[in-house]
Amino acid sequence: MSAPTEQEIETLEGDLTRQIERAADEAGLEDLRVKMLGKKGQVSLMLKTLGKMSPEERQIVGPALNGLKTRLVDLIAARQKNLSDAALDAALETERVDVTLPTYPEQNGSIHPVSQVMAEMTQIFADMGFSIAEGPDIEDDFHNFTALNFPEGHPARDMHDTFFFPEDETGSRKLLRTHTSPVQIRHMMANKPPIRIIVPGRTFRCDSDQTHTPMFHQVEGLVIDKETHMGHLKGCLVEFVKAFFEVDSLDYRFRPHFFPFTEPSAEMDIGYEVVNGEQRLGTGAKYMEILGCGMVHPNVLKNVGLDPDVYQGFAFGMGIDRLAMLKYGINDLRPFFDADVRWLDHYGFRPLDMPTLAGGLSR
Ligand code: PHE
Repeated sequence: MSAPTEQEIETLEGDLTRQIERAADEAGLEDLRVKMLGKKGQVSLMLKTLGKMSPEERQIVGPALNGLKTRLVDLIAARQKNLSDAALDAALETERVDVTLPTYPEQNGSIHPVSQVMAEMTQIFADMGFSIAEGPDIEDDFHNFTALNFPEGHPARDMHDTFFFPEDETGSRKLLRTHTSPVQIRHMMANKPPIRIIVPGRTFRCDSDQTHTPMFHQVEGLVIDKETHMGHLKGCLVEFVKAFFEVDSLDYRFRPHFFPFTEPSAEMDIGYEVVNGEQRLGTGAKYMEILGCGMVHPNVLKNVGLDPDVYQGFAFGMGIDRLAMLKYGINDLRPFFDADVRWLDHYGFRPLDMPTLAGGLSR
């Protein structure tokens, strides 16, 4: 290729500039850029010929070509910005959504029973003055067991089928929390009484069958104050269960039980009967267990720096999934976590029907 004259370069610039200005979209512009300035582009190839020119020629053609290249680069960048702004404007215009339009009835996507039940529980306890607290899924031995008055090597630790992590450098093992009770400890260490919290969350135990999955959900409750007693515990839980199962009268009993972190401890059973093969909850001659509870053990209070002679309280814990199964007549727990849309279509809840005490928890 012989050295281009200044005149030729000027004509070329006019031509290329027009092409850039006419590019219809960003892809077309990119093609032009490659054609002009890419490795084998028209302008790049011309720049390569500089080496073969005489010094006199190069002194004139060099600055002219380099100037051309710089102006083209700027021009392309400016055009690129124009085109992308225009593309965005066009997209915003055509993809405009009217959020006030009614939703399509055939649209699927529903609220999972676990979320629904958590929202129902939150409504009921919020109405009684509880607030929500949370804690980590990965816990240490102290919060999950020791501070909750599980002695080292006590068989109660084995009841929990704990998932342990491998030992770290210090020889201790983290674990997946086996219950939401460690959040009692975290909350009492970080807050002063009076305390009134519920703790919904994930819990983990190495167990799997029709009514157990390795990951499940619990809601914990904790009340700490100066004159809290067993009567408060009973009143609170009976009111909760009535509201949750949406029944006016309730057969229930508190049966003595054992938890290391409560004394006395109990399990609450509610009455039910079977009518035409269907379980009716609330009243009846048969009883089923629905939750564990008790007065917070003095050792637990001491472990978090509270004086048991001044403060007392109660705690309770229940399985959210299990309560969802009971309330909504679901007999297998495993599909809760299969993410099968057919199951969700059947058991899910409408997204815009938020449970409220005034409007009804479930409809
Ligand atoms: N953490 C207990 C469990 O998972 C339940 C419970 C909580 C019992 C609070 C009493 C008080 O079995």
